[in-house]
Amino acid sequence: MKKYLVIGNPIKHSLSPELHNYWIKQNHIDAIYEKKELNHNELENLILNIKKENMHGANITVPFKNAIIPHIDELSEDARKTQSVNTIYLQNKKVVGHNTDIEGFERAIKEINFDFSGKKIFILGAGGVVPSIIYASIKMKAAEIFVSNRTKGKADDIKKNFEDIKLIDWGEVPNFDVIINATSLGLNQDDKINLNFTNIGNNKLFYDVIYNPSETNFLNIGKKLGNKYENGKLMFIYQAYSAFKLWHGIEPKINNETIKLLDR
Ligand code: ATR
Repeated sequence: MKKYLVIGNPIKHSLSPELHNYWIKQNHIDAIYEKKELNHNELENLILNIKKENMHGANITVPFKNAIIPHIDELSEDARKTQSVNTIYLQNKKVVGHNTDIEGFERAIKEINFDFSGKKIFILGAGGVVPSIIYASIKMKAAEIFVSNRTKGKADDIKKNFEDIKLIDWGEVPNFDVIINATSLGLNQDDKINLNFTNIGNNKLFYDVIYNPSETNFLNIGKKLGNKYENGKLMFIYQAYSAFKLWHGIEPKINNETIKLLDR
């Protein structure tokens, strides 16, 4: 039986096992997908286990998407550009790190028929997923990308990798077409993002990377102001879809039942 794992810290809220095991069963694959909380000093051992084929693949989540890189033999172009790895596998005896968050975000945006080309994208946050959102936005031909983070130093670090982005002081709101919440504000139902949206107009897209709760206060504000809004559920499903396809060579089905697996 092949073994797959999602690692992070904390990890207990991850719904990746639900999705992957559902698809594993649906496709009659002899495999199991589990979650495990790791510490930094255990990353090397994880990679060794993949090399020895005790394990056949892993998903990496917060806070290890960047920290795992020194332990990996080869990076895909997407992982290299974002310095972020969320999917690992063995190829020709080498441990390869890839980033499927980018495809996940791109496909989620395509699915809602929103066109990023020529648009101004305003990203809130500078955590693990932000480089992937920036890179996906560049691929989708966004005109301008703004990033704002409470701790400015972290946004400065991202700019070292993506020179063309513009940094916005936390609390300021530039003119935008799309606003993306990539902070953890909203994970608790009462969380509020203190930004003033009174003068933004409508016909914008409010996108929240958070999918549980399915409608954060942030999305609720966008909705009330007459904008399009979308949570991170499809992005999450599509990043898992791409990892599944890489590991098993099968395109898993996405339907209402798959989507329901994430309603917690
Ligand atoms: P990590 O930073 O470890 O990668 P993350 O969940 O990917 O974790 O990112 C959390 C993001 O939410 C960060 O951008 C964080 O801002 P800081 O860099 O200033 O910590 C943001 N965040 C969390 N709580 C916040 C709050 N109360 N107000 C504003 N931003 C917040």
